[in-house]
Order: sequence, then C-alpha cells, then structure tokens
Amino acid sequence: MTDDAATEGADRGESCSVCDETLDLGDGRQLTIRHSSSADAAGLEALYGRLSPDDLRRRFFAGGLPPAMFFDRWASIEERGGFGLVAELTDSGESRLVGEAGYAPTPDDRAGGELGIAVAPGFRGWLGPWLLDSLLRHASEREVETLQAMVLIENKAMMALLAKRGLAIVGHPDWSTVQIVFATDGSVPTWGPDRARPRVLVETDRSRWRGEDALTRAGFDLLVCDGLYREGQRCPVLHGETCPLVGEADAVIVDLPDDDAAAELVHSEQLVHPGARFIAARRPHADAAERGSGRLTPDEILDEIEDLLDRDDPARSDRPDRGE
Ligand SMILES: CC(C)(COP(=O)(O)OP(=O)(O)OC[C@H]1O[C@@H](n2cnc3c(N)ncnc32)[C@H](O)[C@@H]1OP(=O)(O)O)[C@@H](O)C(=O)NCCC(=O)NCCS
Repeated sequence: MTDDAATEGADRGESCSVCDETLDLGDGRQLTIRHSSSADAAGLEALYGRLSPDDLRRRFFAGGLPPAMFFDRWASIEERGGFGLVAELTDSGESRLVGEAGYAPTPDDRAGGELGIAVAPGFRGWLGPWLLDSLLRHASEREVETLQAMVLIENKAMMALLAKRGLAIVGHPDWSTVQIVFATDGSVPTWGPDRARPRVLVETDRSRWRGEDALTRAGFDLLVCDGLYREGQRCPVLHGETCPLVGEADAVIVDLPDDDAAAELVHSEQLVHPGARFIAARRPHADAAERGSGRLTPDEILDEIEDLLDRDDPARSDRPDRGE
C-alpha cells in the first residue's frame, strides 16, 4: 500500500457517515474499514495473491488470479455506480489489505448490484460478517434495497453468511452455482422492478426446487424461498409481519412437507396476506394414493398457475410462452 493510497482512503473515510471504523487489535495492530479507491488496485491484487486456489475459485469461479485490469476496475467501482470497502491492517507503520467487499452494477436490474467479498484466512471468523454488514449499511443508506450474489454451492461460509441476512434463490445457472438475492437491511429481499412477467414465489424445503427450470423457461419471474428450513433465516410472517415476497407475488407455490412447521407458515401467510393466491404442489394423502404420486409435476404446476392467473384476467397479455 502506498502512502498516497492510505491518505486518500483516510480522507474518503473521514467524509463517510457510515464507515470510520478503526479497531485496535490490542497487539499494536489496527484495522480500518474504509472506502476503496483506484489507488487500492495493487493492494487488492496483493490480497488475492495471498489466497489459496480454492479461495480464488470460490471468489472468481476459476483457480487463478484475474488479470490486473480486473483489480483496476474493481478498485474504482464507485466511479461506475458500485461501491467498495477495504479492511486495511496497519502493523509497525506498514499497511496491507486483509479483506474487501463491494458490489458492482449488473445488466440484470433485479438487484442494485452483484456482491464480491474476500477475507484473508488469518482474519476469518469475524471480519467477513463485519465487512459485509458495513457494506450493507452503505448500500441501504444509498437506497439500494437488494443485492445479488453468485455463490458456489460448496461455499458453506458464504451461504451461511447470506442466510442470516435473509436470502431468496433466483436459480441455478449450472450444477455448481446458485444465484441469490438478499436484502441490504437484513430483512427479506424484494422483487425486482420487472412487472412484465408474472411473479411466482415457491416455498420449499429443497435448496434446488424441481420446477425451477420449467417455470423460468416458461417466462415466469421466479423466486424460491427455503428460509423455513435454512438455519439463521428469519421468516417475517411467523412474527405477524408482512413479507414482500408473498405480498407482491402473483402466485405462491407451496411445496412443503406435510408437517406442523409448514402448516403454521401457510396459516400465518393467509392471515397476514389474505389476498395471496396459493397453489399446493403436494397432494393430500388420499389424492396421492389414487394418482400414484404425492407431488405435482412441473407441467401440472404450470397448468395450475395458468388457471389461477386466467381466473382473474382471462384476456391477460403476460401469458408466458411454454414453447409448445
Ligand atoms: C466468504 C468469507 C468472506 C466469509 O468470511 P468469514 O470471516 O470467513 O466468515 P465467518 O467465519 O463468520 O463464516 C460465516 C459463517 O459461515 C460458517 N462457516 C464457515 N465455514 C463453514 C463451513 N465450512 N461449513 C459450514 N459453515 C461454515 C461460520 O460458522 C459462520 O456462521 P455463524 O455466523 O453461524 O457462525 C471468507 O470465508 C472468504 O474470504 N472466503 C473466500 C472467498 C469467497 O468465498 N468469497 C465469496 C464469493 S461469493
């Protein structure tokens, strides 16, 4: 880290109402969280240069370091509508970056940006949540309500970190990756601005819902919530509060086991959102015995959604293309 970078960062930190956090680590070292700037490109490259190939794969989905150009762009992300923070360690007059978090605008306008974060191994266990919460406070203050993240399914630390801050699943671009949206205020993410496609919320106990591809291909705006079964996630309707995902969905598919927790959830949702329209994706026992299966197929679910939406508006123009 050059002196110029440290000075510029400190200057930016002073003018920021959210981050001017310096922590005395008690052993002569200090840790400061401040805005990143273009002068941090080399420091970021050095931070990533010290991470393992597994960490690099979790962050970049590839085993090696990205080209220097990536760090130039990521360090100056604020100039392009994004936002970045770095955690800078000062030890015996020397400074180096030991963590960073930021978000960059994406072409998909569902969220205010896509999250990237990394922490040096010696600072894990506390710095990741601290950096993320600091970033989310900044985003929230800038009225960015929702962010998204692409996460390797094997990345348990990242999934646990986001689950505590309230997430919904957009989909799985491939077998190893999940696309997530989460609220910057720690509550529940909201739907994106797109109102052209009918919104379908799925409540399920599976992290990869079986009808995801079929409904997405058919043109629905799909979000999956498995929060009832995900450790750390708080469900607002169970506390008598509204849920933006349920409240603004055109249909809610309930694909949950026949247990008390699921029954309580649906009952609470019907109380809090009396206008919500539910589709049961699992058949009652008697029907299941007769039909040979307890679960509706994705095609049967699509038929149910079409019937439900047609009942309200037979001439609706947002009918998704099922490719038939
Ligand atoms: C992801 C990362 C930033 C998290 O920061 P961190 O300081 O390590 O965060 P924590 O240690 O608090 O871990 C977060 C949570 O995951 C849990 N966790 C950590 N490793 C885990 C594992 N292998 N299995 C299950 N849970 C795990 C922790 O217990 C914690 O949950 P808790 O709050 O309930 O205790 C950090 O691990 C990292 O830099 N990883 C490499 C880069 C990366 O994956 N970036 C994300 C790209 S999207």
